[in-house]
Amino acid sequence: MTKRVVLAYSGGLDTSVAVRWLGEKMGVEVIALAADVGQGGDLEEVRQRAFAAGAVEALVVDCREEYARDFVAPALKANAKYEGKYPLVSSLSRPVIVKHMVAAAREHGATAVAHGCTGKGNDQVRFEVSTRALAPDLDVVTPVRDWGMTREECIDYAERFEIPVTVTKKSPYSIDQNLWGRAVECGILEDPWAQPPEEVYELTTPTAVGPTELTIGFDQGIPVSLDGRSMALHELIEEVSRVVGSYGWGRIDMVENRRVGIKSREVYECPGALALLMAHADLEDLTLERDLAHEKARLEPRYAELVYDGLWFSPLKQAIDAFVDESQRFVSGEVRLRCEVPGRCIVAGRRSDVSLYDYGLATYEAADRFRHEDAEGFVRLWGLAVETWAARQARRPRSGPRPGSEQ
Ligand code: ARG
Repeated sequence: MTKRVVLAYSGGLDTSVAVRWLGEKMGVEVIALAADVGQGGDLEEVRQRAFAAGAVEALVVDCREEYARDFVAPALKANAKYEGKYPLVSSLSRPVIVKHMVAAAREHGATAVAHGCTGKGNDQVRFEVSTRALAPDLDVVTPVRDWGMTREECIDYAERFEIPVTVTKKSPYSIDQNLWGRAVECGILEDPWAQPPEEVYELTTPTAVGPTELTIGFDQGIPVSLDGRSMALHELIEEVSRVVGSYGWGRIDMVENRRVGIKSREVYECPGALALLMAHADLEDLTLERDLAHEKARLEPRYAELVYDGLWFSPLKQAIDAFVDESQRFVSGEVRLRCEVPGRCIVAGRRSDVSLYDYGLATYEAADRFRHEDAEGFVRLWGLAVETWAARQARRPRSGPRPGSEQ
């Protein structure tokens, strides 16, 4: 029986050529799977393109709700940004795609999964490590990494086999997009000194004219309403992205460290992600106790690294999720975002029924509940060690270095 492979299919040049190449060079049947993670575009057209390229089956799976709930929400609760900047757009979508590839492999009797990543990027790591975690018995086939064709040769191959592709030799960018944002690489962006041309942006083209406000309602760390209207998370993210993006806000231009040892210049547009991360972190400032907030902040960069490095399905990541979930019990309330022309989005206010902000303690008005007399003794003990040290400095002033002298 001919072997079957489930290929993660985007409808782009590489994966379309991969469909044919896998059949021709490896003699396998290809089941193309396109996951809808909110990238937009016509996925029925993508499905037809997979058939035209030679797939025996082509599946479109709507993962938007699951992706938002099970992948984006945990990352949001963890305030996850790789290297302090990148909200992990592509890193988050790969594990959900792999989950569905594995399910499709089981259903259609495939013995392998395949992806269209090159050997230079992070996405291959995420596809393969996630597959190892979920289905160690499946092989992973990597046509694009193995075939050694240049982009031009790929286009020629597509023309030769009449594979319908939309790219032309002139379009230089590599783009990956989902609910959580958009990543752009290649072309002129490979020069870190060159300013990204306006043409690379799609989600953050400024069109808004006057200021606007968005009130985000959170329940235990998860955004659940927009301006008082309850909304499914994936729809809320789309709406916030659209509004905030129209102010030209949410761009990231960074040089990042890939897992495979390469520094690369990346341009991202993440208006919704950055706005929601900002709002969420702000609500935590209001509702998390100090030690918990500080310890959580120490774990957040580690969490982002694990996700970036393809370790979504891993024990440390799971354990940090449990810690984060516990921390979110009281992260409920509302955050008011204000957008202004040009390119500004700020937190204008926050409130919560379970806030730890106590007006009676914080106010400088006369009627406060703070026991001022407690402060005197507290501060004296707090500074006692330093006071003792300073007194010794006064008795034994430091001269030049002497062998054996104390510091
Ligand atoms: N550098 C980002 C990451 O590693 C974005 C990758 C974009 N992927 C792509 N196939 N264009 O997560």
